Amino acid sequence: MAKDSLTVTDNRNGKTYEFPIEHGTVRAMDLRKIKTSEEDFGLMAYDPAFTNTAACRSGITYIDGDRGILHYRGYPIEQLAEHSTYLETAYLLVKGELPRRENLEAFVHNITHHTMLHENIKKFIDGFHYDAHPMGILVGTVGALSTFYTEAKLIFDAESRRVQTHRLIAKIPTLAAFAYRHSIGMQYAYPDNDLSYTGNLLNMMFKMTELKYRPNPVLERALDVLFILHADHEQNCSTTAMRCVGSSQADPYSATAAAAAALYGPLHGGANEAVIRMLMEIGSADKVPAYMKRVKAGEMRLMGFGHRIYKNYDPRAKIIKEIADSVFEVTGRSPLLDVALELERIALADDYFVSHRLYPNVDFYSGIIYQAMGFPLDMFPVLFAIPRTAGWLAQWTEMLLDEEQKIARPRQTYSGPPMRDYLPVDERPE
Ligand code: ACO
Repeated sequence: MAKDSLTVTDNRNGKTYEFPIEHGTVRAMDLRKIKTSEEDFGLMAYDPAFTNTAACRSGITYIDGDRGILHYRGYPIEQLAEHSTYLETAYLLVKGELPRRENLEAFVHNITHHTMLHENIKKFIDGFHYDAHPMGILVGTVGALSTFYTEAKLIFDAESRRVQTHRLIAKIPTLAAFAYRHSIGMQYAYPDNDLSYTGNLLNMMFKMTELKYRPNPVLERALDVLFILHADHEQNCSTTAMRCVGSSQADPYSATAAAAAALYGPLHGGANEAVIRMLMEIGSADKVPAYMKRVKAGEMRLMGFGHRIYKNYDPRAKIIKEIADSVFEVTGRSPLLDVALELERIALADDYFVSHRLYPNVDFYSGIIYQAMGFPLDMFPVLFAIPRTAGWLAQWTEMLLDEEQKIARPRQTYSGPPMRDYLPVDERPE
């Protein structure tokens, strides 16, 4: 009779073990029971890069990579992108349900009124080198916020968590925009509470001498949709960093700095910049076939294609492609778009890409849109960090309230030298 369990035979001694299967997993700690003697430590699972290890149960984001499905708290990403706003989606992520009207208004009001930074933060930013990368500034200053809000250490106090969550979602665009203005030597533009979340970000980024900045509504909405699409993506590298650092009971500003640092890496938050560089290198649509030949010969990878989880069209890429047209109507069509469309057309019909199940991912079109809106390449990872902050905080809270979680501490198998005696410096061999 079928049973939800796994039977394992240890061929070293013929012993058999039966482990329960729950939610498609066996508990790694059950492997410890597999021993050849009383002194034996027991078996461990070896899983570099955690490619097949579920480290938590989560009720936040659901991905079916084979079918190209992404849900936040059960809501399909397509419906959120069409009907929701970034702040409403952030509420959904951090609180678990879509808000009623009065709750949404209170949340938006709260976020809007926490956008200012302590003036001392400006002094930190001023201290960075004139050409400092804005993501480096963001990582440093978001961590520094912990020194301004010492009650943030009270991570098991629900009210403190609520306030820090609002502060982080509210202040991260201000830090991001100030980092950008510093990197180009311009005076900071202060938040404008009359504007929406993304309208205000555009204001703080691009305001010049005008008394009141008026964001273009099409670009404001496109940025809002891009933020919805980037708000969470379950246990990726930066979210794992957030959970790991948070598991030591560090305050949320320090944990967010760690998550942002993970996002800074080119394999995570830097891929859309790599796409733009690749499209610029190719130059024009007629050069695409020759470039594809080189990709297939293994000379390089096609940036913005393939994903560890999605083995189908990334649902976020589909939505981004749809909003691109509305953005280009305002900004003028990017010549890189023709190169991208030709690349996609050829790849989707090519045996190599079809058999490897390589489809455009979220980064394939997002960079072209950000660039058309006037954001420099350096800001791309920062633009990823801003909306992902809500996802990081939702995951952090879930981790703290999960009774099964404790300080994260993976195991290793030791492969260094066996025990040896210390030799005085002159007696050591060449
Ligand atoms: N172009 C060409 N070939 C590729 C590509 C690509 N973009 N991606 C994977 N492949 C091939 C590999 O060469 C390999 O082929 P082989 O089995 O014949 O040797 C096979 O597909 C599997 O590749 P892996 O590296 O094992 O796949 P993995 O799941 O580890 O990698 C990754 C996923 C890193 C995203 C990869 O597809 C890649 O490098 N893509 C380009 C960079 C990129 O767009 N990154 C953004 C990811 S989305 C995000 O982080 C928000």
